[in-house]
Amino acid sequence: MRRALELAALGEGRTRPNPVVGAVVARGEEVVGQGYHSRPGAPHAEVLALDQAGPAARGGDLYVNLEPCSHRGRTPPCTERIKAAGISRVFVSVGDPNPLVNGQGFAALREAGLLVEEGLLEANARVLNEVFFHWVTCGTPFVTLKLAMSMDGKIATTTGASRWITGIPARQLVQRLRRRNAAVLVGVNTVLADDPRLDLRELEGPQPLRVVLDTAARTPPDARLLRPPGRAVVVAGEQAPAERVRALEQAGAWVWTFPSAGGKVELLPLVEALAAQGVDSVLVEGGGEVAWSFLSQGLVHKVVFFYAPVVLGGSGAVCGVGGEGVDDPCSGLPLCDLSVETVGEDIVVTGYVRGETRG
Ligand SMILES: NC(=O)c1ccc[n+]([C@@H]2O[C@H](COP(=O)([O-])OP(=O)(O)OC[C@H]3O[C@@H](n4cnc5c(N)ncnc54)[C@H](OP(=O)(O)O)[C@@H]3O)[C@@H](O)[C@H]2O)c1
Repeated sequence: MRRALELAALGEGRTRPNPVVGAVVARGEEVVGQGYHSRPGAPHAEVLALDQAGPAARGGDLYVNLEPCSHRGRTPPCTERIKAAGISRVFVSVGDPNPLVNGQGFAALREAGLLVEEGLLEANARVLNEVFFHWVTCGTPFVTLKLAMSMDGKIATTTGASRWITGIPARQLVQRLRRRNAAVLVGVNTVLADDPRLDLRELEGPQPLRVVLDTAARTPPDARLLRPPGRAVVVAGEQAPAERVRALEQAGAWVWTFPSAGGKVELLPLVEALAAQGVDSVLVEGGGEVAWSFLSQGLVHKVVFFYAPVVLGGSGAVCGVGGEGVDDPCSGLPLCDLSVETVGEDIVVTGYVRGETRG
């Protein structure tokens, strides 16, 4: 199953809105077939693994990280193919919450007399497809907040400079995060300070939609994130000056206008509009004001905080999370399921926002 999960991860960022799935056919200890789902419409992992195994699949075991489908979508039901191949045991990490599958894949296999075991490496499989699970059950994007901070929690110095706080391996990991997300979002202050590209440049895969929160349409029309490849959306307030909006549109940006609350773009309608465009996942990359807005409005599901082995200091330096903050430490936003790893010289803390989120 570990191999099936590794194979599944090869499809990361390319199978949207489908899950990533890997499959292995084994006879005892010997692997006789393997495959992974590479893009929507392409054959499912189980079918590729069974094709590779050929007659050796008869009487063998199938390992797959997600419940095999039992309905005809763009491709025929995998359960039929598994039965026809003569597989005797099927090991699955986790059921598929998609209402078209949701237990029916397991039932179809058991009715045909196959032995089905669920729950192998389930936690790993859930993380791998966390975007898919959220999208099919909630219909809203799965939101990850990523920040690159100094050890004292600053994302920029007192001059606003932030390049580069973290090292090259951490930035490579950010490329993977961008590949996993359908959209990348920042506030206009970050665009003005850093002129980031926010694109995918070290890995192959579709470019994320780049989104800027920019009430007054202050994004410069020659900003790098407006340039191809990929598309950019400037999310402006309804009162944004028409000539700035026009200049941005002429520069190739998509400009969406939303009502603003307290002088800032309202986030919930934005998240809904992104969902309507099929955006299943958003990587919020800062800065501090935007981080607080998303967190305080209950719109973040996961955090990925990079900490570089450096202290920046400065009471005017930009904090990882700005805004008003909370009055009482007991009312801070609790995180759970934390994991810590080292990437190059930096530390990465990954965690989930505990309790109810709105999106
Ligand atoms: N190290 C890192 O990971 C990292 C990442 C990103 C940025 N940075 C640094 O962070 C600094 C910028 O951060 P920042 O906190 O000053 O600004 P920011 O979060 O980048 O942008 C905030 C601005 O976005 C606009 N906005 C529109 N709607 C909003 C909403 N609902 N919530 C929040 N903001 C909204 C507002 O400007 P309008 O009122 O004009 O719309 C607001 O002032 C820069 O120095 C940059 O280098 C570091």
